[in-house]
Amino acid sequence: MCRAIGERLYIRYQEWWLSIHTEAVIQLDQLKLEDPDRRYYSPANYHAFAAVLDRLNIQPERDVLLDFGSGLGRAVILAALHPFRRVIGVEVSAELNQVAEENVCRALRRLRCRSVELIRADAATYRIPPDVTVIFFNNPFCGLVLENVLRNIRESLSEKPRKVQLICQVPEQSAFEMGLQQQSHFTLEREERFSQNVRYLFYETNHTSNAQCLGSSATN
Ligand SMILES: C[S@@+](CC[C@H](N)C(=O)[O-])C[C@H]1O[C@@H](n2cnc3c(N)ncnc32)[C@H](O)[C@@H]1O
Repeated sequence: MCRAIGERLYIRYQEWWLSIHTEAVIQLDQLKLEDPDRRYYSPANYHAFAAVLDRLNIQPERDVLLDFGSGLGRAVILAALHPFRRVIGVEVSAELNQVAEENVCRALRRLRCRSVELIRADAATYRIPPDVTVIFFNNPFCGLVLENVLRNIRESLSEKPRKVQLICQVPEQSAFEMGLQQQSHFTLEREERFSQNVRYLFYETNHTSNAQCLGSSATN
């Protein structure tokens, strides 16, 4: 009980400090975008994602973070408090993306990374830029969308071999996690649990698996 109240106060403080409005749960049928592979809007956990970002060894000249399913922009804004070279959000809903843009404008004075790009697109068809090094997923989709996104990541790695880290906020069980486990190009490095329903999975690729990507894309 006390913990829940503390959590709500912390969320309100963060939203006030950043001058943003991201605390909501929005079903995609409200936006006429329902699809069994798409997950509804629910923002990243402030404590957990901030702690994860604090522990990343961000190289300001190199690192670019991409948030798949950026919603109202909370994760993008939290990432941009850090010295990423740029931060990109990809969101299927034009309405959510519009609010995210307003949120980024209001938070701008707090951001260390001023290069924030919010793209309205279906993740399945989004071509991943060759400079992206960190990809965040807050349980945004599963099924065919996830398959296409993982294929697009492999293609991006084939075009430009590099180390890419996947950071995933997932609940106890999810179709997203099951889909990710079925592929072999990323290795689960570690898992962190923040609360009963907030887990983080850290996957990595490296130059060896980049070479495997090239091999498998040549045979498939
Ligand atoms: C759980 S919310 C995550 C929001 C944000 N990343 C955060 O952590 O604060 C998932 C988001 O994914 C979006 N989404 C679902 N399917 C998508 C798709 N195919 N392409 C792009 N965005 C999608 C939803 O509209 C929703 O905003």
